[in-house]
Amino acid sequence: MDLQIGLLGCGTVGGGVVELTRRRAEKIEAITGRRPVITHILVRDLAKQRPVALEHEQLTTRVADILEEPNIQVIIETIGGIEPAKSLILSALKAKKHVITANKDLIAVHGAEILETAEQNGVSVFFEAAVGGAIPLIRPLKESLTANAISDLKGIVNGTTNYILSKMTETGADFDDVLKEAQELGYAESDPSSDVDGLDAARKLTILATIGFHAKVRLDEVIVTGIRAVTAADVAYASEIGCVIKLLAAGSERDGVISLNVRPTLVPKAHPLAHVSDAYNALFVRGDAAGDLMFFGRGAGSLPTASAVVGDLIEVLRNIELGVSGNEPLIRLQKVVNSKLSEPLKHYLRLSVEDKPGVFAKIAGIFGDSDVSMETVLQKRVKQGGAEVVIVTHEVSPVQLESALLALQAEQSVQEIHSVMPVEVAGG
Ligand SMILES: NC(=O)c1ccc[n+]([C@@H]2O[C@H](COP(=O)([O-])OP(=O)(O)OC[C@H]3O[C@@H](n4cnc5c(N)ncnc54)[C@H](OP(=O)(O)O)[C@@H]3O)[C@@H](O)[C@H]2O)c1
Repeated sequence: MDLQIGLLGCGTVGGGVVELTRRRAEKIEAITGRRPVITHILVRDLAKQRPVALEHEQLTTRVADILEEPNIQVIIETIGGIEPAKSLILSALKAKKHVITANKDLIAVHGAEILETAEQNGVSVFFEAAVGGAIPLIRPLKESLTANAISDLKGIVNGTTNYILSKMTETGADFDDVLKEAQELGYAESDPSSDVDGLDAARKLTILATIGFHAKVRLDEVIVTGIRAVTAADVAYASEIGCVIKLLAAGSERDGVISLNVRPTLVPKAHPLAHVSDAYNALFVRGDAAGDLMFFGRGAGSLPTASAVVGDLIEVLRNIELGVSGNEPLIRLQKVVNSKLSEPLKHYLRLSVEDKPGVFAKIAGIFGDSDVSMETVLQKRVKQGGAEVVIVTHEVSPVQLESALLALQAEQSVQEIHSVMPVEVAGG
């Protein structure tokens, strides 16, 4: 039996969904008893060249052709952004159509409203493709690992920044040069701010934390630092102390308090996340029963993302057959989110200081007064009366670190604090 599907958008992801749905139609029919057929596709521009040759699928610019078509039971949204995607999804759910979306921007901010509308209308909404492209993350957290108390979710979830940091590490080039090259190659948007300022990773962390910690988590509760300030010097010093710099999205739960941070982090080369390069994504998960798990794979691209979308489609078809929705229950546990209370971590600091006797003793005194002990100190590149000092501290709480930084800023012989980044522990 055919099951009719309306597709919203036919760009990178939408094109992949058309191709993969066709390629797997027979297998899906064998598994679910229904053959998926995309009948209508909503776009803006009917004349535009599509990434896939269309056959029986009908392109339209009229929303009503899809939302008011009673035979269409499933809507796949691949438009992106908040509007019109949000209104279209809510209308589809109210019209009792199941929805699959790849839209992290929308789910991170309006996920609760969308899930609630789906529940009220007895239909499903699935969004595996919104985080990590091809990598199954949502379903393992929602289903396979539910028996665990998840204490840590830590990952590389933005391909653009990972590509830029990988290239900076390989070539020794500075951020601006690598960003320009990434834009020319199409790996970074012409406006790269959502990626390089960490917001895309923060949206994905919001979704992962909501599901992994079963908590109400808001995007504005994530403390976000992007990668614009990471320099070639930081990358080189990190390497000298056995680390690479990665933009880590990290969520942890300790004693019912959740902390959520996205920030450039020094990752020891022995850590599995250090080897996740270029456009790949990875998520490290720690559960009290399962122990440590690592999910790794292609975080974006047409077919990798379509793999997750069509996986959701198969789940929807199974649920239609069973007469269930399969939605994540809306019950969320009440937990405190305080991202300033992240656990003590080692920190990397790069400072310019006056090159004269006694300066180092003063810095050591400041750290001592804030109860921060130093693990490694490198003194480098003496020039124009200044020296560059790189310090790696032992584990330090955010409060201790802030107190040491304030005292360093007030110290006359400290000319500038260039970088402050956490250092991940080798074992995760
Ligand atoms: N690209 C990836 O690798 C990737 C990975 C994971 C998740 N995602 C998510 O997947 C979604 C789609 O991304 P994409 O890269 O496929 O985007 P894209 O290539 O820009 O495609 C967007 C499509 O949506 C259509 N569209 C945009 N605004 C519309 C409107 N107002 N009305 C009707 N159609 C409209 C466009 O139509 P026209 O072609 O006629 O302009 C286009 O076909 C986003 O939420 C994105 O975050 C993407």
